[in-house]
Amino acid sequence: MKYRSGKELRELFLSFFESRGHRRFPSFSLVPDDPTILFTIAGMVPFKPYFLGQKKPEMSRAVTSQKCVRTNDIDNVGRTARHHTFFEMLGNFSFGDYFKAGAAPFAWEFLTEVIGLDPDRLYPTIYKDDDEAFEIWNKTVGVPENRIYRLGEEDNFWSVGPVGPCGPCSELIYDQGPAFSCGRPDCDVGCDCDRYLEIWNLVFMQFNRYEDGTMEPLPKKNIDTGMGLERLASVVQQVEGVFGTDLFRPLIDRAAASLGIRYGATSEGDMALRVISDHFRAVAFMIADGVLPSNEGRGYVLRRILRRAVRYGRMTGIDRPFLSDLMPTLNEIMADPYRELVENESLILQVVEQEERRFGRTLEQGTSLLEAEIDSLRRKKAETLDGGLAFELYDTYGFPFELTEEICREAGISVDREGFEKAMERQRERARTAGKRHEGASDKSLYEKILEETGSSDFVGYTEEETETAVVALISDGARTRYLDEGTEGEAILVKTPFYAEKGGQVGDIGKITWEGGEALVTDTWPGTEDLPVHRVKVLSGRLETGAGVRAVVDGRRRRRIKAHHTATHLLHEALIRVLGDHVRQAGSLVTPDFLRFDFTHVKPLSPEEIEAVEGIIFETVTDNIPLQVFFTDMNEAKKLGAKALFDEKYGAVVRVIKIPGYSVELCGGTHVDATGDIGLVKIVKEEGIGSGLRRITAFAHAAAFSLFQEQTSLVTRLAEKMGAGETEIEEKLQSLLEERKALKTENERLALGAALAKADELLEEAVEVGGVHVVTGVFEKTPQEVLRQAGDHIRQRKSPVVSCLASVSGNEVTFTVMADERAREAGVHAGMLAREAARMLGGGGGGRPDIASAGAKNAEGLEEALRRIPEIVSEQIRR
Ligand code: ALA
Repeated sequence: MKYRSGKELRELFLSFFESRGHRRFPSFSLVPDDPTILFTIAGMVPFKPYFLGQKKPEMSRAVTSQKCVRTNDIDNVGRTARHHTFFEMLGNFSFGDYFKAGAAPFAWEFLTEVIGLDPDRLYPTIYKDDDEAFEIWNKTVGVPENRIYRLGEEDNFWSVGPVGPCGPCSELIYDQGPAFSCGRPDCDVGCDCDRYLEIWNLVFMQFNRYEDGTMEPLPKKNIDTGMGLERLASVVQQVEGVFGTDLFRPLIDRAAASLGIRYGATSEGDMALRVISDHFRAVAFMIADGVLPSNEGRGYVLRRILRRAVRYGRMTGIDRPFLSDLMPTLNEIMADPYRELVENESLILQVVEQEERRFGRTLEQGTSLLEAEIDSLRRKKAETLDGGLAFELYDTYGFPFELTEEICREAGISVDREGFEKAMERQRERARTAGKRHEGASDKSLYEKILEETGSSDFVGYTEEETETAVVALISDGARTRYLDEGTEGEAILVKTPFYAEKGGQVGDIGKITWEGGEALVTDTWPGTEDLPVHRVKVLSGRLETGAGVRAVVDGRRRRRIKAHHTATHLLHEALIRVLGDHVRQAGSLVTPDFLRFDFTHVKPLSPEEIEAVEGIIFETVTDNIPLQVFFTDMNEAKKLGAKALFDEKYGAVVRVIKIPGYSVELCGGTHVDATGDIGLVKIVKEEGIGSGLRRITAFAHAAAFSLFQEQTSLVTRLAEKMGAGETEIEEKLQSLLEERKALKTENERLALGAALAKADELLEEAVEVGGVHVVTGVFEKTPQEVLRQAGDHIRQRKSPVVSCLASVSGNEVTFTVMADERAREAGVHAGMLAREAARMLGGGGGGRPDIASAGAKNAEGLEEALRRIPEIVSEQIRR
């Protein structure tokens, strides 16, 4: 068999099937357009609608090498030679075209003739009663009867999940030879060890499984196949496992250099190297497809993988961020064909490094906490780690639950997942923000019913702010109603509407609806469903009736302010890219009449210079007064124009483009100004971090920016007046005032100390002696604790054995500073206990060390009496 690189194998596969009538697609995103799964887990995922017959494909055959992520076996990654999280799946697909009789010979031909695998080492497995597949392997392909294995549902039935397309399958197993065997006497085809390697899965996709478990035949019979590129490479390159292939080995070597260890030296080191190289690869591809670390969903999976890699790095002794060292090597192996790695390189590096730093800081503390707990559990012979502690590790130290679980498992201890989830749920409860976003919104099911009945209502607000329309449905208290009377509130759905329903971060419009003999306010608009804008209305006069003709009028001034903020958001987006770099991606936004908020990927706070530069670019573009071009096109055209799109935008769909010629092109459904000059002015007012690799900018535009400008200039004027300085001298004046204040404070402290020490001398005169110990008590006016300590020191230097109890009174508050010298302590005096008892007499508390302590109370009445009792308490301490 000829040596082939991973790259060659990928190309051989794609071109083999291309030459047999398959349309070649580049890999689809790791983030699927499918709410039922977090990641693309197989080559068939992007084609699911074709299998289900929901969409008609333009072709009946396709071939891909698809980026995939699977994390169900993550604990095994690193332990074995064949587990990994990110991998490429080579797959050929037939959408109602060829079936079993086509798929099997294709696979056989590719493996034995193109690749040159020894046919005597290949075994097909089939679903136990799939005689059709048996006949094909035996008769058409020519595999002897005794080399075809019939296996059960577990091995030979494949489905993407509990529901969805599925079918019996046939696998091609490659015998790596006895050297790879687990050695069990029954080791044979179907064994789980490394000897009988499954290399290709041919799925005969012919059923759809529903939630209740029933299966129905799909409209057409399809083929879905999947072969792990890395696994194929390990066989062809005759190396041990995927980590020995040219797709992995350079990453392992690079990681080994960073960690200062050698692959093959120790089993712990090898495991760490496999974990790190696999996990870094997965993380880089995930970030390149728009996933960022978070505590939920995909972001959480990313974080879990990343943190697991960091932990393994730490275990080999490295304590600096090191994962990024692998980036150039990953690019060498994968950037062709995966350009997204290079395009997102700076984002990947920044996110990875920040996450490493963050977790690196808490990893050690968390690990020692966990280890101490594991020790104590072992001593107690307990077997389960408390879920609350797992939650603390998660919440305070950033340990993903699965990481805690893995560490515990290594020690033979399980983790109480239920307890963890309960603690998590309690925290969520606390975090749940009060109140719904749209006051008075009804259940979505009601909107869906209305939509079904009345059809969608058109949005005409891109071009009109008022329109003649009619009421198609009214809702009161969550139920349909024929009319809304004067003084009542409810929801209204119109035939068509100029009101923008909140979407894409832009708030909904407000305004009014008028009709013959009546008027209603519209206080909010939101999408009940995608095509059904819902208006929150309050009837001011008359009766609003279903079927009535009405005039819908948007509050135009407010709309103009919203438009200005929305276009300003686009200006900001582009300006950020120009100033900070290509890694900047929009991660969310809020557009209101009064401000805009823009979230984006970037790891460092912006410097004042960067903020100014961003504002400068925006200002130029506003004053250039560029007319906007707004049009609809398809996604491919939009891409060609270089449009910025969110990661999950669908291909093929009709999209709306907002083009600011010479400046930026963005996909957006919002309302925008006619020309940039309409924005007036944009000012950034706040910049902050909001999570790993994410920053948030708040900015004002239009009237809001103008008001801000007015308020701030008037503030400066008032300040100047108050300071008796010219406006340009404020800063200097303030500086000298601050210095003066500092000098006064020092002087004041010096005087206070002098007075306190003088008073301490007086108090010494009045000291009483209890069992040979001098007891000094006294009351000071509003004296800082630091000064009282010095007074206490002063006393200690002048008498011995001595204990002082000095009280400072400020209003009704008392603070005690208690100090005992060594000889007093030897006699039995304890400053901490004394302070506590003194404060207790006044209903307060505190305490501290035997030599020095403080305590406080909020009730100064009775202070004299309390101080009188001090010698008594001291005498009790001495007697004990
Ligand atoms: N979709 C099949 C698998 O993932 C080919 O194994």
